[in-house]
Amino acid sequence: MNGTTRARLVLCATLALVLGGCAWDAPMSTLVARSDFARAIVHVYAIVTWTTAIIGVGVFVALFLVLVRYRARRGDTGLPRQLRGHTALEIAWTIGPALALLIIAIPTIQIVFRTQSAATPSDALLVHVRGWQWWWEFRYPQLDVVTANELHLPVGRRVVLRLDGPDVIHSFWIPHLGGKRDAIPGRLNQITLTPEQLGEYWGQCAEFCGASHANMGMRAVVQAPAEFERWVAQQRAAPAEPSGPAAAGKAVFAGSACVGCHTIKGVSAGVLAPDLTHFGSRSMFGAGMWPTTPENVAEWVKDPQRLKPGVKMPTLGLTDEQAKAVAAYLVSLK
Ligand code: CUA
Repeated sequence: MNGTTRARLVLCATLALVLGGCAWDAPMSTLVARSDFARAIVHVYAIVTWTTAIIGVGVFVALFLVLVRYRARRGDTGLPRQLRGHTALEIAWTIGPALALLIIAIPTIQIVFRTQSAATPSDALLVHVRGWQWWWEFRYPQLDVVTANELHLPVGRRVVLRLDGPDVIHSFWIPHLGGKRDAIPGRLNQITLTPEQLGEYWGQCAEFCGASHANMGMRAVVQAPAEFERWVAQQRAAPAEPSGPAAAGKAVFAGSACVGCHTIKGVSAGVLAPDLTHFGSRSMFGAGMWPTTPENVAEWVKDPQRLKPGVKMPTLGLTDEQAKAVAAYLVSLK
């Protein structure tokens, strides 16, 4: 190997490591565990990977030895000695795979039962997660808080997520916090987990649920307990009375079809679409599609149908001025 070749090899290996490293810690990597549930899954993943790797190496070594040892040699005539009904071998290759399955099955089943037990520990934070076409609703019954698409959780506290889908089947999935679980009409599925590290983690509906399935994202914001308490207090408080263009926007909102589907405490009580009482406190809207800026929100309320295929929100025929005012109002709802 000359110098240039060696340099190329080193470069390739470094690139592979660096690029591989990026993918490893991608926003929705399943290999990065930030909760006990996710850690348990990575643990099973490691067991499966090591078990199959060891079996793979064993098979290839045996294959290589057999190929070398029993290859046809010059002067060989006829078939070699044939083997039939070897009891020890038969038993070995029946027990072997059964053993491998057992090694994989025991921790898998343990974790499935541990993370979806129906019991709710008394110290757990309860969140009712509802998958709608095409957004996520998060209700905190113990705290009297309702929000959408942004799940706030305190670090280190056990949380019980109760999942259902009022319209069709969705699947709740925030990879850094653990595996997927379906949100099904007429049935409550459950996930129990404890977030272990501060951060913002991306999630996505993982079950095809119609035209904007791919536009059904969400985020989990794992906060220090004091910070979470502040968030709860903010969500429970009434938003400040708007002034200027935002006040005009409130009038447009209150006088239009918006009130039929959206709740803004003190203004409207619709339940079919996201609660907007603290819309401006959420950094993204449209189920994780855009940053909450006045420009983006104005464009959205003007023509949601164009921006999100199939969305249930109708185009209301607002003028540019009305759309801007409504956006100013919504963004002011901190
Ligand atoms: Cu909801 Cu896919």
